[in-house]
Amino acid sequence: MKKLLILWGSITVFVLILIALTIWYIFVHAPTTELGYEKYRWKDTKYARIRTKIAISDTDQISSTVEYPTTEKKSVNDIIGKKIDEFRTTFNTEVRFRKPPRGQKFEQNISYQVIRQNKEYLSLATTAFRNNTSDFPERETAYWTFDMRSGRVVTLRDLFADKATDGIARVTLYIKQAIAAKQKAANLPVDMSIADAVLTPQYVSNFLTPDRSSLRFDFWPGEVADPELGSLSVTLTVDNLQLFMQNEQARSLFGIVPISQATHYEPKKVEGATAPNCVRVKCIALTFDDGPSKYTDELLDTLRDKRAHASFFLIGKNVAQRPDIVKRQKAEGHTIGNHTWSHPWLTRLSANEIEIQLTQTNDAISAQTNEKPTYVRPPNGAVNQTVYASLEKLNMTAVLWSVDTRDWADRNSQIVANRVIAGVKPGAIIILHDVHKTSVQAVPKIIDTLQKNGYVFVSLDEMLGPNAAPGKIIMNAQ
Ligand code: NI
Repeated sequence: MKKLLILWGSITVFVLILIALTIWYIFVHAPTTELGYEKYRWKDTKYARIRTKIAISDTDQISSTVEYPTTEKKSVNDIIGKKIDEFRTTFNTEVRFRKPPRGQKFEQNISYQVIRQNKEYLSLATTAFRNNTSDFPERETAYWTFDMRSGRVVTLRDLFADKATDGIARVTLYIKQAIAAKQKAANLPVDMSIADAVLTPQYVSNFLTPDRSSLRFDFWPGEVADPELGSLSVTLTVDNLQLFMQNEQARSLFGIVPISQATHYEPKKVEGATAPNCVRVKCIALTFDDGPSKYTDELLDTLRDKRAHASFFLIGKNVAQRPDIVKRQKAEGHTIGNHTWSHPWLTRLSANEIEIQLTQTNDAISAQTNEKPTYVRPPNGAVNQTVYASLEKLNMTAVLWSVDTRDWADRNSQIVANRVIAGVKPGAIIILHDVHKTSVQAVPKIIDTLQKNGYVFVSLDEMLGPNAAPGKIIMNAQ
């Protein structure tokens, strides 16, 4: 009796394993070609060192044409081929147990485009179209920029190197801004819920390089916005990101303006009875952009109570709306800087337009303070050779930052304070925005913690002296 039980048990287990293996084989392991009678052929292309392997299957129910780009690097071919095979598996899974409507066929068409190619780099996109009347996406895309010397994909992380966190945060912000603008232009409601959920720093990794001055990101319908918007292609200019791309990898891919000249500035003993000597003590400069705002008074109270100085980069057109705050900033020993008249990308303006943005703002500020600002914060940190030339002409210095709190992205005082405390070094310049309540409320914790550690909060005039490096950029003083 017992023997019989064991025998039957064994048979049952054996049969179950057999069933499981069969299911696994059908769904996972089965070759993608089983649905058709696939034929291959080879085709030359107009691109150097690239041939196309075309796989065609044509049956009563299915019509499929798949192009595999084939370069001289096996690792590159493998990466692209793996993605194309994923596209094909999706299609095969959809159509496997279905029949097309009478007189029609399920269709698949996978092709590729070379976006840019030279000896060192290959930027390439592959797109899958499907016609199968199902819920699956009808169109998908994948793209890469390959370093053809190593045969590896260049990711945003490679491109930004040690500035990866800040650089990728900027890229996701700019992509979202472009999506919002496209929704507006199409008269669709601006809904960022899909983009906010999908576009995480991990998600944004690959990019295309249409030329030496831009990065492109492609999205299929519904990937990051309402499918009604269709396929999206977002192109970002390197001008607005080169602050984060001061490294060899980025330089060999793009025309990057070097900002090394005055990146690190030596602090000096600034004249004045009360000025601390930043050569000897641990100075730190908090800077606040985009104001003055309704929160600025509260911030000035905090700074006064804690005996801290800071710097304010004001937007010119806001100045006349809150003249008393501007007067108070000056009276209480803070440095007032120029953040342009209307916050445009200076890199998109002509020299003349840049100069109007700066001088109009200088005039509005000196009407309140009787002093012309010498420090400029270019909106978004965007600079190019034209901006440098205008700054030199106007005898002004651009001040960027060494610690990016990204307080525009995280409206959370604790996160903002922690980023400052974690990133600080003597001579650090911190960027914050006094138009966000959460940023203003982070300041007491920042000052209390760092004062305990021996830091002195100074204005830029106290840290650098007035107008330290006309025509150049300063990112910190150390
Ligand atoms: Ni700003």
